[in-house]
Amino acid sequence: MRIDILTLLPELLEGPFSASIMKRAQEKGLVEIHMHNIRDYSTNKHKNVDDYQYGGGAGMVMSIEPIAALIDKLKAERDYDEIIYMTPDGEVLDQGDCNDLSLKGNLMILCGHYKGVDERIREHYITKEISIGSYVLSGGELAAAVVVDSVVRLLPGVLNDETSALTDSFQDNLLSPPVYTRPPEFNGWKVPEVLLSGDFKKIDAWREEQALDRTTKRRPDLLY
Ligand code: ADE
Repeated sequence: MRIDILTLLPELLEGPFSASIMKRAQEKGLVEIHMHNIRDYSTNKHKNVDDYQYGGGAGMVMSIEPIAALIDKLKAERDYDEIIYMTPDGEVLDQGDCNDLSLKGNLMILCGHYKGVDERIREHYITKEISIGSYVLSGGELAAAVVVDSVVRLLPGVLNDETSALTDSFQDNLLSPPVYTRPPEFNGWKVPEVLLSGDFKKIDAWREEQALDRTTKRRPDLLY
């Protein structure tokens, strides 16, 4: 998979992709992540990338020219399966979307700032608009990092134990059951007996019951 990220703040995205699972996925050649600074495509002598909005009102709008120039350049180099715009008014991301995106080859992700991008970018280039939740971030970068992380960890070979992505919360519309490790007792707080029993049928049944119970209490919306 190849992911191109279009941003005004590439430094915001250095951290999330330079450690742990994301770093290893790139080192193993399972994903290539390319950062592009939109400002480099401004032809204006002050390198401006935004302007006042037509019709008046507070807040700057990201201009069409540098973004269009960058997208056109990338599209001339390869085909993209999706050109994604991170925006709070997009469709709210869920595990199903992550699964779908993990099957794609080339993704482009545009991060918004200020009041957003000129609407003509959305109309003529963007194929998918994603929100990571009903709140507003100061820019799309952290949201893009969430999308990339949640998609890349699903690529075959990224996680050491491949089954661990399949048993994540949400993969079967259930939250995960509680987990424990040693010691079996701490401060008098005991690990549930069944987990120490060695009876894997019983353990599986207990985990299913706990997952269902947790989902019913915390996220009943997932069950319908
Ligand atoms: N940009 C600002 N807020 C956002 C959100 N909630 N999701 C995606 N992109 C955003």
